[in-house]
Amino acid sequence: MERIYIKDLSEHKDKEVTIKGWIDVRRDQGKMIFFDFRDMSGKVQGVVLPNATEALEAGSNVRPEWVVEVRGKVNKRPDNAVQEGKLNGDIELEILSINVLNEAETPPFDIEGDGKEINEEVRLRYRYIDLRRGRMQENVRNRHEMTHFVRDFYKKEGFTEIETPNMTKSTPEGARDYVVPSRVEQGKFYALPQSPQQYKQLLMTAGFEKYFQIARCFRDEDTRGDRQPEFTQIDMEMSFVEQEDVMAINEKMLIELVKTLYPEKKIQETPFPRLTYKEAMDKYGTDRPDLRKDKDNPNELAFCWVVDFPMFEKTDDGGWTFTHNPFSSPQPEHVNDLVEGKNTENILAAQYDIILNGSEIGGGSIRSHKPDVLRKVFETMGYVKERIDENFGHMLKALASGTPPHGGIAFGFDRMVMLLQDEPNIREVIPFAKTGEGKDLMMDAPAEIDQKQLDELKIKITKDK
Ligand code: AMO
Repeated sequence: MERIYIKDLSEHKDKEVTIKGWIDVRRDQGKMIFFDFRDMSGKVQGVVLPNATEALEAGSNVRPEWVVEVRGKVNKRPDNAVQEGKLNGDIELEILSINVLNEAETPPFDIEGDGKEINEEVRLRYRYIDLRRGRMQENVRNRHEMTHFVRDFYKKEGFTEIETPNMTKSTPEGARDYVVPSRVEQGKFYALPQSPQQYKQLLMTAGFEKYFQIARCFRDEDTRGDRQPEFTQIDMEMSFVEQEDVMAINEKMLIELVKTLYPEKKIQETPFPRLTYKEAMDKYGTDRPDLRKDKDNPNELAFCWVVDFPMFEKTDDGGWTFTHNPFSSPQPEHVNDLVEGKNTENILAAQYDIILNGSEIGGGSIRSHKPDVLRKVFETMGYVKERIDENFGHMLKALASGTPPHGGIAFGFDRMVMLLQDEPNIREVIPFAKTGEGKDLMMDAPAEIDQKQLDELKIKITKDK
């Protein structure tokens, strides 16, 4: 018998159907048993009537979260029992038989409500159960809608989605790297990318001109509500552009995304307001101001751009380091100061951040596309020639081999989904999130590995006492 999805049941009124799914709720009233059944498409109420002897017996054995195949008749509800506006509010399944496909242990927690009151570590340990709750299903499915929107948007704009490696060499984005030991070259390590930054620039050298990727990034940094050790970026880069071009196309993407997928939300101001870094710091004391006029209204979206960031900041030992990204170019009128090594504290970068409701959801820049300018950035930070050549020789060579002017941006996709789904942290929109300590409690990672694996890698563990 063909399986009918629960959302389609009302098209089968007065007919016998088979549904497959989970027992969501079971209310045994002795002579009759009431159920809610659940599949990926929705829920429906079912009832075993007193005369259905076999179904009554099966129905009294089954428990919530058991997986079942149910045969039943789709009955209209009497007028006074119709629940308006609710999926299947006008029907009820008269259960004829229940076939158990798999039993389930009693779940460690309730999946009925939003689950926010449940200890999060327990939710993460049993994530495969936690993900069954309606709120989590919606977060994951809406995330998928956003992924597809983003793909379609950039594709229509002429961008090519290109994958870049996860086993690579360190790219400085300001955090520690996660590393992967090489077995073949003992003592050598790959680094997991903190972002696809270098690769996307090299794709500009390679003549693709318009690149995007929904990219996984890895950063060993303190985890917080809006930070995970691995997270997802919407990453893009384009050639022959200036700062305004990159900002314009991405502002368009965000506005269309909200209009299409979250029509109930209101963007407070378009075009997005812009603040210089200095204005933001002077006025709001932060470079990610929350410009919402009504912070209690979850449908209020206040985007803003922050621009004119200083290129360098002082290090503790009196030197200079990059504020965002060493590949960012100084603004055109500041390039000379960089090359001549003067006025370093006043050099502004062609860098732009995008803020939504006080959260930094993205950042990007126009890059230094000339090798002497990029070399000068590293020299300003006190890197010696050998270090520059060893770490960035490939970038300098690429810039010297016909690289067009280019720039781009990366959005923190998890943060975008978090804000649009009105969630308090990004773990709620990451199906298999890690804890604040970077642990995957479900898989129990990180974990020790076999001595044999260590021996093959020639790695010896020395433990702190
Ligand atoms: P940046 O380092 O600013 O820029 O990262 C871009 C955006 O990624 C998000 N983000 C994070 N989200 C979750 N967990 C984390 N640990 C985390 N770290 C960053 C933020 C941030 O705005 N290559 C450059 C982009 C570019 O210049 O094109 C980059 O990675 O929302």
